[in-house]
Amino acid sequence: MTRNLFIALEGIDGSGKSTQLKLLTEKLEAEGHKVYATFEPTNRPIGAMIRTMLKGDSHTDDRIIAGLFVADRLDHLLNDENGIVKKMQEGYTVICDRYCFSSYAYQGTHMSMDWVIAANSMSASILRPDVNVFIDIDPDVSMQRITSNRETIEIYETLDNQKKVRAKFFEAFELLKDQENIFIVDGNRLSALVAGDIFAALTQTANR
Ligand code: TYD
Repeated sequence: MTRNLFIALEGIDGSGKSTQLKLLTEKLEAEGHKVYATFEPTNRPIGAMIRTMLKGDSHTDDRIIAGLFVADRLDHLLNDENGIVKKMQEGYTVICDRYCFSSYAYQGTHMSMDWVIAANSMSASILRPDVNVFIDIDPDVSMQRITSNRETIEIYETLDNQKKVRAKFFEAFELLKDQENIFIVDGNRLSALVAGDIFAALTQTANR
C-alpha cells in the first residue's frame, strides 16, 4: 500500500470484525505501516454512556442513542488526545471497528434513516473512510456465534433485529453508493480467505 488509509470495518454483530481487525493490523504492520486500530462506541465518556444504554437495563429512546452516537463519533474524530484526524495526520493507517454505516443501519432500523444520515453529515464531511468494508454474514450464523461466545446479550442482538439491520446496511449502501467507497466481502468463509479479499481491496484503494 502506498498511503495511509482510513478504513471502516462494518457488519452485523458476530460477523467476525474483531478477527479481521486483528488479521489486518498484523498484515499491515508486517508491511511496515503504522496502524491505529480503534472502535465505536468508543471507550471515552460518551461511548461509555452508550455501552451502559446498550445493556438494556433501563429503557432508552432510540433517538437519544442515535444522538449519542453522533456525539461519540465527533469526539472520536476530533479529540486531540488520540482522535482519528490527528492519527491520520501522523501517518497512521486507521482501522475503525464500526463507523457511520453502523448508525445508518442500527439506528435506521428504529427511526428514519434519512435523519441519521443527516445528523452524521458533519463526521462524513470531516473525514470519510477511504473504504467501508462490510463483512456480510448470514444472521442465523451470527446469532449462533453470539449466543455461544458471550454471557451478556445487548439490546440489538436478536435474530429478528440482526436480519433487519443487515437489510438496512444494504439499503444505506444503495442510497450512498455515489458518495462512499463500499467493499462487501462474503464473511461466511474461513477468516484467512476473508482477510485475503479485504487486503486485496485495500491495496487497490491505496493505489488508486
Ligand atoms: P460492537 O462493539 O461492535 O459490539 P460488541 O462490543 O458486542 O462486539 O458494537 C456494540 C453495539 O453498538 C452493536 O450492537 C452495534 C451498536 N452500534 C450502533 O447501534 N450504532 C453505531 O453507530 C455503532 C458504532 C454501534
